[in-house]
Amino acid sequence: MAMQTISQAITHARRQCPPIVRIAYAPYRMTSALEALTMIGRAVCPGFVLNADNRWVFENLIRWVHGDAAFECLDPDTRQVRRGNLNAGIYLAGNTGTGKTLALEVLDRYTTIDNVHLYADGTPVRLHWTARGTSDVCDAYQATGDLSPWTDRTVAAFNDLGAEPTQSIHMGNRVDVMRTIIERRADLRSRVTLLTSNYPLSALSTIYGDRVQSRLYEMCNYFELRGQDRRRG
Ligand SMILES: Nc1ncnc2c1ncn2[C@@H]1O[C@H](COP(=O)(O)OP(=O)(O)OP(=O)(O)O)[C@@H](O)[C@H]1O
Ligand SMILES: [Mg+2]
Repeated sequence: MAMQTISQAITHARRQCPPIVRIAYAPYRMTSALEALTMIGRAVCPGFVLNADNRWVFENLIRWVHGDAAFECLDPDTRQVRRGNLNAGIYLAGNTGTGKTLALEVLDRYTTIDNVHLYADGTPVRLHWTARGTSDVCDAYQATGDLSPWTDRTVAAFNDLGAEPTQSIHMGNRVDVMRTIIERRADLRSRVTLLTSNYPLSALSTIYGDRVQSRLYEMCNYFELRGQDRRRG
């Protein structure tokens, strides 16, 4: 086959692939997984605990990492438990101090145990992220005018959605940074997005409008962390 034909065939094959394909990292035992996750949690935060407020969320985040078909999440409107979508990302809502940011950090480290990969447009990519605060992302946009570091990355995590300034200005260009990033990542489809927020997903239309909220319903599996502010002991 001529070179051009081969590359056309590869491009064609990639177009036929679903945008995100997850692989099952199984079998595994949930009790061992929770023990490993707790050890990782304690390495990051010595007082790390799993309890009634966070155990179900962590169990399902573990299932999500393993590509386990038993993965469940919450319906963002009714808060009823429902089947999760392994090809979608994670939206973790909760009051301040309930452990959302730490949860994403611990989960990222947990993915290194099995060196978890997914396929994005047919290309293997590590399931790995370094979460950035949305206000930092806005500051970076103001300095560089470039959103591609956050739109191009297959797997990206953002802390504090809804806490950032609505608009950021670069060289006179006003951009709703997080709105634009979410819309682009949704439209590209081969993206996995993890978010933490003090806002439940059902409340996001008041901040970003229906377009962004609707995309997030599709892009993310919804979870809530409950309980006290862990910063207060
Ligand atoms: N499971 C846990 N067990 C014990 N301590 C925890 C746990 N999760 C988080 N913490 C501690 O609680 C504090 C708050 O955690 P974290 O920053 O993750 O909260 P958050 O939900 O992201 O808060 P915010 O909404 O203000 O961003 C941190 O000091 C963290 O180390
Ligand atoms: Mg946080």
